[in-house]
Amino acid sequence: MSRWGPGHRDVVQADLHEHYTNRFDEATRLDSTLKGRLERARVRDVMARYLPAPPADVVDVGGGPGAHAAWLQSRGYTVELLDPVQSHVGQAREAGIPAVLGDARSLPWPDGRFAAALLAGPLYHLIDAGDRRQALREAVRVLRPGGLVAVVAINRFANLLGATLANQLGERRRIVEEILADGFSPRNDRMAHTYYHTVNELHAELTGAGMRSVTVHGLTGPGGWLTVAIDRHVQTDVLPSTLADADPLQTALDGARIADRYPDLAPASALLMAVGYRD
Ligand SMILES: C[S@@+](CC[C@H](N)C(=O)[O-])C[C@H]1O[C@@H](n2cnc3c(N)ncnc32)[C@H](O)[C@@H]1O
Repeated sequence: MSRWGPGHRDVVQADLHEHYTNRFDEATRLDSTLKGRLERARVRDVMARYLPAPPADVVDVGGGPGAHAAWLQSRGYTVELLDPVQSHVGQAREAGIPAVLGDARSLPWPDGRFAAALLAGPLYHLIDAGDRRQALREAVRVLRPGGLVAVVAINRFANLLGATLANQLGERRRIVEEILADGFSPRNDRMAHTYYHTVNELHAELTGAGMRSVTVHGLTGPGGWLTVAIDRHVQTDVLPSTLADADPLQTALDGARIADRYPDLAPASALLMAVGYRD
């Protein structure tokens, strides 16, 4: 059994469903904030760099309502999506994406079915290392030899930096310190159960699941912190004059793209994206 104690899987599962069904609208997340728009743009950046040319079969595991899957389809890929939240599966189907209800730890497809797998969700919502290993092994299993795995994770240090920039370190301090120490806090009420990786740990998890040539990118990069600060402190669409000289989304994108050339800068990013290949 895991270090989180007996029965934790049921608690985590119930929390995930409650969060995404009743507390949080995932369908608007990538549109409604600057931070979300940066994340969407950068997932496209990194995926476009590594994906084989279309046509190819891609699986979006934990694809939610299908924002990335719809973009992949529009680029000529054949996409299948899986998610454990019924409303996400329904929204993806309404958007014309073939979608099934399921769990990253047990995929319903045969060995070698896909050219690429995107996991933007399962790795940070599986708090037990054994569960994450199982999800990664399943992704590897459904890939053909040489297939690409792309995994989004949340940086262990993101809460410290985010709470500081939001000027909320006082009220968030206990949560921040638990996450720094353990990668997880049971008091983290803003997210469904979430695990936070260090760059080295994420790299080791992909390598340990049998992937080769693993690279960890800083997804949102140092400029991501500009979007966090604006989302938090600017309440209207009208930017104060000190922020209006340049488009902050473009600034953040440029910052992330420059930092991408320097792997040592990956820990400066709130979100991480690891890519690797099946042997
Ligand atoms: C923040 S949403 C991201 C959705 C989409 N991938 C994106 O990047 O926009 C996280 C997603 O991971 C899914 N998820 C959580 N645990 C999962 C698991 N064990 N297996 C598959 N998906 C999971 C959630 O249901 C949710 O749709």
